[in-house]
Parts: sequence; structure tokens; C-alpha cells
Amino acid sequence: MTEPKSGVFISFEGGDGVGKSTQIKRLAERLSTVGWDVVTTREPGGSPGAEAIRKLLVEGDKDKWSPMTEALLMVAARRDHLERVIAPALERGAVVITDRFSDSTMAYQGMAGALGTHAAATLHALVVGDNNPDLTIILDLPIEEGLRRASDRAGAETRFESKGEQFQQAVREAFLTIARSDPGRCVVIDAGGAVEETERAVWRAVESRLPAISAPG
Ligand code: TMP
Repeated sequence: MTEPKSGVFISFEGGDGVGKSTQIKRLAERLSTVGWDVVTTREPGGSPGAEAIRKLLVEGDKDKWSPMTEALLMVAARRDHLERVIAPALERGAVVITDRFSDSTMAYQGMAGALGTHAAATLHALVVGDNNPDLTIILDLPIEEGLRRASDRAGAETRFESKGEQFQQAVREAFLTIARSDPGRCVVIDAGGAVEETERAVWRAVESRLPAISAPG
């Protein structure tokens, strides 16, 4: 993780059910077509160890972890994912697209949850350091629509959705606050229209923020 990276690191963020996985799939296909080695991954999870931690986090009662324990599990998963999947892929020159990264910890645990922003920032500094995404796309959608979409496919992974509408609203606002505080890295995209419309907006953001990506390096 000490090598300078030569790849491109993109994260997708947003509340539950905003359509990140669909958009990631479409962006990955487009980048593969122009010749990039593309790695798509997700958090919590993305490596075998982190996927095991994911199960502890996304299933069960909403209050089963204290705010600090929940955040420590999130960053433990993230460190394993970063060391074993993200950093090696960036070092070999790939485009890494992750469904959530550390802005989710700041939004869900630090701002909407009881952890607080200071502790979330401290954990980020320790676990992620300078390994931040080159571009973060925040998909924004009214929470009623997001929760409806999320409940259509939730299965056993309902722990965060069950934290309630007030919590989800706070998460939405947290992502918008994060975007305002880091406009060089973050782009907010309205995810309320047709999938193709959002896809076009995502591509415009990628092309304008990362001009070198239209052709592989
Ligand atoms: P997913 O449904 O997008 O796969 O994510 C699972 C849940 O985990 C989602 O509700 C958001 C939550 N989450 C956090 O609370 N903090 C984090 O750092 C991450 C990565 C996810």
C-alpha cells in the first residue's frame, strides 16, 4: 500500500436503494469496452474477510452493535478490502469502482448515527489515510423511493433499512454535506429519473472529472 498508485479509484455513495449497483455495472461495462481493466467491488465486503464481517453488520437487530463497535467492524472490513483488493488493483493500473467506501462510515455512523464526526474522521485517518477515491459519485434520491426500491430486494440484509425514515433522511443529508465539503472529489447526481438518464449523468461526471479515462492509460 505504499507504492504510488497508477490506476483510477471511483466510489459510488448514497442512501439505500438509490441504484448504485445498476450504475456501477453500466459504468464498468463502458470502461471495459474502451479497454480498461475494471474491478467492481463493494463495502462492507469486497474481500473474503470483509464479506464475513459484512454478514455481522447487515443482518439482525438494528441495535445489536454499539455505535463504536459498528464503526470498528466497518473499518476493519475496509482495511482488509483496501489491502487485499483495492490497493493491488490500483497498483497494476486498473479502474476500481466500489459500491460504498469511507463516506458511508462518515454518513451512517459519524453524522446520522451516534459515533460523531470526530471519531469517524479519526478512524478514516488511521485506516484509509491518503487512499481516497479520485472521484466519488453520490446518487441522490428521496428516501421514500430509495427505501421502496431497497425493500424489493432486501432478503436478510435489512439491518440498516430498519433504522427508520428519520435515520435515512439524516443519511441523505449527510452525503449532501460531505459533497459540499469536498467538491473536488464528489459529484452529486439526481437518481430520480430513468436509469439511462442517470447513466448519462454518471458518464458526463466521469469524463469531465477524469479526462484521461476516455482511453486507457
Ligand atoms: P449496501 O446495502 O449498500 O450493500 O450496504 C449495506 C449497509 O451498510 C447500508 O445500509 C449502508 C451500511 N454501511 C454503513 O453504515 N457504513 C459503512 O461504512 C458502509 C460501507 C456501509
